[in-house]
Amino acid sequence: MSDVLVSARGLEVHFPVRSVGLRRTGGGVLRAVDGVDLDIHRGETVGLVGESGCGKSTLGNALLRLVPPTGGRITFDGSDVTALDRRGLKEMRRRAGMVFQDPFASLDPRRTVAQTVAEPLEVHKLRSGRRERAARVGELLEMVGLDPAVASRYPHEFSGGQRQRVGIARALAGEPDFLVCDEAIASLDVSVQAQVLNLLRRLQRQLGLTLLFISHDLSAVRHLSDRIAVMYLGRVVEVGPAATVASDPQMPYTQALLSAVPVPHPARERARQRIVLRGDVPSPSAVPSGCRFRTRCPYVFEPCPDVDPALQPAGAPGQLAACHLHGVVGIPVADDTPEGVTTTPTS
Ligand SMILES: Nc1ncnc2c1ncn2[C@@H]1O[C@H](COP(=O)(O)OP(=O)(O)O)[C@@H](O)[C@H]1O
Ligand SMILES: [Mg+2]
Repeated sequence: MSDVLVSARGLEVHFPVRSVGLRRTGGGVLRAVDGVDLDIHRGETVGLVGESGCGKSTLGNALLRLVPPTGGRITFDGSDVTALDRRGLKEMRRRAGMVFQDPFASLDPRRTVAQTVAEPLEVHKLRSGRRERAARVGELLEMVGLDPAVASRYPHEFSGGQRQRVGIARALAGEPDFLVCDEAIASLDVSVQAQVLNLLRRLQRQLGLTLLFISHDLSAVRHLSDRIAVMYLGRVVEVGPAATVASDPQMPYTQALLSAVPVPHPARERARQRIVLRGDVPSPSAVPSGCRFRTRCPYVFEPCPDVDPALQPAGAPGQLAACHLHGVVGIPVADDTPEGVTTTPTS
């Protein structure tokens, strides 16, 4: 048994875009996911970070086969996900699920908590008989810290945090191996976010779950994740152990993301230099040639416009970065501020 549960190789999800205008120039293509290589090991939590629009949700959806890939390969527990027949797909739906961002939109307002949580039990025939199902629903509600007595209530009777717990109970009903949590705490009050994060962490340990935890917020994932993968314009550009990616990033883009995270220490916070990237994120329908980060990178040099850098070992063991600075001239030291980097004190 391989220790890799979910694997993507050269994964692409391209959407057709129709040009609007007088000339019939035909449509282009929007590269939401554009050549992702990623392995997720059994029992680990991988944090997937990057700015809004970089393709995180599309990647998460593709790994669960909720959107069809247009290229590359996905395997789940050794099976090619795109080649699954109906039965195989149904079993995958049981073993791999999603915790959604918005617990208000993701729960059906006309169904009770019991109906919502029991649905996967019925679909996958996991408990036969009403009484067994009701007992299992109670068990699942307790697992997520809810009183089993709430089973007969409707979603509108709950707070955001409680609804998210219901969503998690439902996601666990099929006894999955793998969960994608897509911005699962982003729409909750700050005080509730930590509670839901702790719940996910406890469940992950207790059940040996494999998690892909998607967030635009690097600070939210660093304590929860074993490894962090950083996405930029449809590609994983850095991946490695959470502690080293968050403390010693090797890709200039990760360095910039990290420099935007506040440090909970007054003296260090004052000393923190903020790297402000120039320009905007290019459109995923017009990805730059060569290195896709080069139009905003402060360290750009000869190979960058022509050669698309592959993920390669950089920094700590197990850390990979897609950057020409590695293996060529070495990463510049932090206090060697290059031309084009705006560093502004944060206070
Ligand atoms: N169904 C779709 N059709 C066309 N474009 C899409 C679709 N889904 C996502 N996109 C586009 O793909 C890109 C990546 O989106 P998404 O995966 O939602 O990013 P993220 O989750 O990182 O914010 C965005 O430019 C988005 O507009
Ligand atoms: Mg998203």
